[in-house]
Amino acid sequence: MSVDERDPHSGYKTTGHDWNGIKELNTPVPRPVYFFLIAAFLFSVVYWVLMPAWPTGLSYTKGLLGIDQQTTVEREVARAAAERAPWMDAIARTPVDEALADPELMGHVRATGATLFGDNCAVCHGQQGTGAPGYPNLRDDVWLWGGAPDVIAETLRVGVNSGHADARISQMPAFGRDQMLPQEDVRAVVAYVRSLSEARSSAGATTLTRGAEVFATTCASCHGARGEGMASVGAPDLTDDDWLYSDDADAIFRGVWDGHQGVMPAWEGRLSVEQRRLLTLYLLDRQRRAP
Ligand code: HEC
Ligand code: HEC
Repeated sequence: MSVDERDPHSGYKTTGHDWNGIKELNTPVPRPVYFFLIAAFLFSVVYWVLMPAWPTGLSYTKGLLGIDQQTTVEREVARAAAERAPWMDAIARTPVDEALADPELMGHVRATGATLFGDNCAVCHGQQGTGAPGYPNLRDDVWLWGGAPDVIAETLRVGVNSGHADARISQMPAFGRDQMLPQEDVRAVVAYVRSLSEARSSAGATTLTRGAEVFATTCASCHGARGEGMASVGAPDLTDDDWLYSDDADAIFRGVWDGHQGVMPAWEGRLSVEQRRLLTLYLLDRQRRAP
């Protein structure tokens, strides 16, 4: 609405609106604002033409420059892989002992291995690889399935109870729950198992004798005649101080009663042969350098 009224103080015309005696001035939009509006408009037109911008149903306008984040990332990944290729190749080809003695190669193994381990393994085995109840410590020299380089690489390939066609099968039966042993026998054999790693056992001689009998008939087929463990079935050594689950008497009782089936994923298909080999070297190297 235009009215012909001038504000006596500023000299501008007013819009004619009046709020409780206060009048609105009809001042022009400042020039810089016009300038920036036009500049922003022109910029967006140029941008739409050069860069990916508008969705067109299933696709989008690609822009004359052909820049897009997906190809940029793909190019970066390809470049990183090309940089890694020579030494990844060397890791795959070099015999384990030679690789472990090669400082340059091991530099790559330590740097890349830490990331690979952190991304894929640390959730279960801990950031430092020291494990947790049910998740083995990978930094000591106690191995359920064996610590030879090929054996570790195979464990990584197929996993344990993982559903992989070649998976390692770890089955500690539920002796109590499945009524394979009466409760007294479970108690006796637990006392016996504890006596294997304890200098002095508080259990009475009759209990231990019964425990030893139960062990020989029921447990030795997997854990060995002296409880020394058996890597071919992943049965732990029961004579050492290292416990996969717990050294607590109640926890051992529960384990023998309800059984154990540890699950370790198979990494074939998720990590390449070279990556699994690199992780094997990484574990052996960390184990050598002790926790
Ligand atoms: C979902 C949990 C989980 C993840 C993730 C996992 N592991 Fe395991 N891992 C286990 C369990 C549980 C066992 C023990 C299996 C058993 O009871 O025999 C195991 C066993 C192992 C063993 C055999 C240890 C021995 O004493 O013989 C190695 C080696 C190993 N893991 C390495 C790795 C590496 C390397 C990664 C990463 C690529 C990884 N694990 C990721 C759970 C996991
Ligand atoms: C069929 C083979 C098999 C038989 C038989 C068997 N075990 Fe096991 N046992 C295993 C396996 C495999 C594990 C490891 C479980 C895992 O990795 O989750 C295990 C784990 C254990 C553990 C846990 C060790 C730790 O370090 O925490 C104890 C204790 C144990 N068994 C005691 C016994 C006793 C006692 C008997 C006899 C009553 C027995 N086992 C019979 C295979 C067997």
